[in-house]
Amino acid sequence: MSKPKITIVGSINMDLITVTDQVANAGETVAGTDFETLFGGKGANQAVAASRLGADVSMIGKVGDDAFGSEMIKNFEENGVDTSGIAVEGKTPSGIANIIVSDDDNRIIIIAGANGKVDKMHVDQYTSVIKDSDMVLLQFEIPMDTIRHTLDICKKENVPVIINPAPVAELEREYLSAATYITPNEHERVRLFKMREDGLPEYYEKLITTQGDQGASYFKDGREIMIPPKSVDVVDTTGAGDTFNAAFAVGIAEGMTVEDAIYLANDAAGLAVRKLGAQSGMPMREEI
Ligand code: RIB
Repeated sequence: MSKPKITIVGSINMDLITVTDQVANAGETVAGTDFETLFGGKGANQAVAASRLGADVSMIGKVGDDAFGSEMIKNFEENGVDTSGIAVEGKTPSGIANIIVSDDDNRIIIIAGANGKVDKMHVDQYTSVIKDSDMVLLQFEIPMDTIRHTLDICKKENVPVIINPAPVAELEREYLSAATYITPNEHERVRLFKMREDGLPEYYEKLITTQGDQGASYFKDGREIMIPPKSVDVVDTTGAGDTFNAAFAVGIAEGMTVEDAIYLANDAAGLAVRKLGAQSGMPMREEI
């Protein structure tokens, strides 16, 4: 079987990770236990995860003209991701994420930097890459106009596309309908559909909901079916959703059923959370 071609149009961040037993309240100082600078960004994480799982991956995005930018491009190369769609944006810092890891959970603040400059003109340079893809993956860490534009291209060229609406933002119905799959977590799902779960049936066929340690669900014959994960030892959940999305995309692009692709995605995400950092624990295909 030839490798599926997956294109990610999305964000590239350096993650500044603080590990602490205690999260500081306003006006309070606490001592943490560890600090790491590791590769992240929802787009980049999904690109690296899909490549490790055996896909032929192209990344379309931007980094800043700083040391983080060149390190992040090198990281893609080391992970076998095609970087020809990544531009270095002058006089702009690379995207970063401030992450606090505590109690098996995380809190993230992102500063867009170069990710905020991934515009329609940049994406237009890579229309042929998008056209040749078996699957395109989108998240919401680049400008929403660029997301809409990429969805238009996918629709015109008949390329399947997954919208991972994270961090959640408003997207018009016509664009949601253009997606092949929409993959919110349970909180994003409520926000995305504006609390109107009664509007969901229209999207049943597209909707895959990740639900943390409960696993992920999909709809079959109008019923929501939950697929639980295997039990895992959690060190850091950062990037678990990205690994899930990448593995689901790879599974679907390889021709799996939705159910089998969710099993693959649950297994991949379960392995990813065993190490600190979004990309550190992302598995190679043989490990699954
Ligand atoms: O999904 C996890 C990612 O969200 C982190 O790597 C961080 O960069 C933020 O984009």
